Amino acid sequence: MPARLPAVHRGPLDGHTADEVRALAAEATAADGVAPLSEGPLLALGTGTATVHLLTRDVDGALGGYAQLDLGAPDVGSAELVVAPPLRRAGMGRRLLEALRQVAATSPDADPPRSLVVWAHGDLPAARALATAAGMDVVRELWQMTVDLDEHPVDPDPTLPHGVTVTAFRRGADEERWRRVNARAFAHHPEQGRITREDLEARMSEPWFDPEGFLLAERDGVLLGSVWTKVHPAQDDREPVGEIYVVGVDPDAQGLGLGGALTRLGLAHLAARGLRRVMLYTDADNTVAVRTYTRAGFERTGVDVQFG
Ligand SMILES: CC(C)(COP(=O)(O)OP(=O)(O)OC[C@H]1O[C@@H](n2cnc3c(N)ncnc32)[C@H](O)[C@@H]1OP(=O)(O)O)[C@@H](O)C(=O)NCCC(=O)NCCS
Repeated sequence: MPARLPAVHRGPLDGHTADEVRALAAEATAADGVAPLSEGPLLALGTGTATVHLLTRDVDGALGGYAQLDLGAPDVGSAELVVAPPLRRAGMGRRLLEALRQVAATSPDADPPRSLVVWAHGDLPAARALATAAGMDVVRELWQMTVDLDEHPVDPDPTLPHGVTVTAFRRGADEERWRRVNARAFAHHPEQGRITREDLEARMSEPWFDPEGFLLAERDGVLLGSVWTKVHPAQDDREPVGEIYVVGVDPDAQGLGLGGALTRLGLAHLAARGLRRVMLYTDADNTVAVRTYTRAGFERTGVDVQFG
């Protein structure tokens, strides 16, 4: 198939097109052993208002290549892209990347023009080759870490800092105070720090959402931190996997051991649900987080890289 120019679509995709993208991502996952689109972009398919979609179709209209650009941040556009395995090595990825750069730089609100960063999940050789050919370097590394709870049994009753109590998230009551602490805890984090109410609602509407696995730590009615867990159901021959989805501690309460205690409480919740394997994502250069998770028994099991 000749490498056609991608079509540009701004705002949420219709249901049929979103399904085509999910099918393309599933095809690539089966071929590569790693999913090309992460949770945020998958959720944004049908909801993202600051999202641009680039779609490359063949003459019969079949979707062969897809890229998604998140323009939610003012200075940088963040993208993920995927080409159908049978259509690779024909220039489609390069054209998608060129188009992403152009859209990021020329979007109506882009003054000064946004730069572009692109995620490559699994750090596959093809992604590295494509990014290098486009003059991009690794600017960020995200680790996937995993713990086997049979090998590292979890303490169900970790010591909490004095006066701190832990309760489950109350839907309809805790959203805004959680967002406030989350934004403070992740002030320097490009994605997590700018979770909007809409983003939070989208996650709470997912089938996996369980307020019992979303724990808030407070003292004297003041929220200090939280741990949010998630369960990935069993799939084909893969057992269910738990996730420490987000751990965040307010800067005023950091250094008290709350992050480690919340991680253990999250693990204890997942263990009580019968989960044996638990994973999480963390920035490789977040040494405090990596140390906290390593102490809880987590080991690095995967790497995603961001090119810029
Ligand atoms: C990475 C990906 C998008 C490349 O798509 P593609 O359509 O095959 O890429 P192109 O044909 O446009 O190739 C672009 C450049 O990368 C090189 N390249 C692509 N795949 C390669 C491979 N497997 N090994 C070596 N070089 C490779 C090409 O040679 C080309 O450089 P050149 O023209 O100077 O030779 C595709 O492999 C994919 O979907 N991978 C899974 C998702 C992913 O990793 N996305 C992150 C992208 S940064």
